Amino acid sequence: MRIDGKTKVYGIFGWPVEHTASPALHNAAFEHLGINACYVPFPVETVDLEKAVEGIRAAGVCGVNVTVPHKMEILRYLDEVKDSAVRLRAANVVVNRDGVLLGYNTDAEGFRRALEHAGVEAADQDVVVLGAGGAARSVVRAFQKAGVTSIALFNRTREKAVLLAEEFSGFGAPIDVWSFSDPDVDTLFENSMILVNATSLGLRDGDPLPLEGKYIRQKHTLIDLIYEPRETRFLATGRERGALTINGYGMLVFQAMEAFTLWTGEKPPLKVMWDAGLEKL
Ligand code: ATR
Repeated sequence: MRIDGKTKVYGIFGWPVEHTASPALHNAAFEHLGINACYVPFPVETVDLEKAVEGIRAAGVCGVNVTVPHKMEILRYLDEVKDSAVRLRAANVVVNRDGVLLGYNTDAEGFRRALEHAGVEAADQDVVVLGAGGAARSVVRAFQKAGVTSIALFNRTREKAVLLAEEFSGFGAPIDVWSFSDPDVDTLFENSMILVNATSLGLRDGDPLPLEGKYIRQKHTLIDLIYEPRETRFLATGRERGALTINGYGMLVFQAMEAFTLWTGEKPPLKVMWDAGLEKL
């Protein structure tokens, strides 16, 4: 990579941010396409977020990704929030268009494309989503767009799931909030084809499963949004049962590819980005 006076700067706002794989993905793509740009981590604490956003304009940073914990908070500091980010009430991409900051969200589209890449047909399926945080919102949005038949939502804090279901009702497949104590829960898992772990359970060694293993069947497709570790206990249990298992790495790469196109207008190289990120992890 050659840095000179014309190099465009992109980056990622997060806290902590040192473990991010995004610089590896984007820098590999810039290099592959011969684009004079670089992508760097910006460790931004919550108290500094507003000043950091001001800094995008002031220093002519061309665009940033936004990650934990800033995805929702950043909306209030942007000039325009695009549809993809409005519905999710969170942005993971900022585009600096001549000093006007535009907020987008590419997580749902990243999830949808990751499914497609893995050969998973979600249309007309009954699906289960575990979790009701920011990641779960992107998954619900993607499933509604993909034309699933129904979405069963489980969350430790039921109230959050109820709010999510209300917010997304009327925009696609119906969302029903479930508890593991519901009498028909066995039938639900018998009839569902795709199970997604959108909780943070599995990030740490020794985390419990996000649901009892007895619900996982061979016919299921199991998707975990976690990609580090590459195989969570959730996915390992599915693999042992003979289920198809997919981790969150595809979603990471495809949300990055969507961001890359918003910034550069170019079609990003999938394999180059995929391999560069894996090398980093
Ligand atoms: P993200 O942006 O990654 O979705 P988040 O918004 O903090 O992160 O959401 C984390 C999700 O994991 C939530 O659904 C959370 O459940 P609560 O709403 O009850 O907090 C879930 N989660 C985190 N720790 C959990 C645990 N120990 N058991 C069950 N669910 C857990």
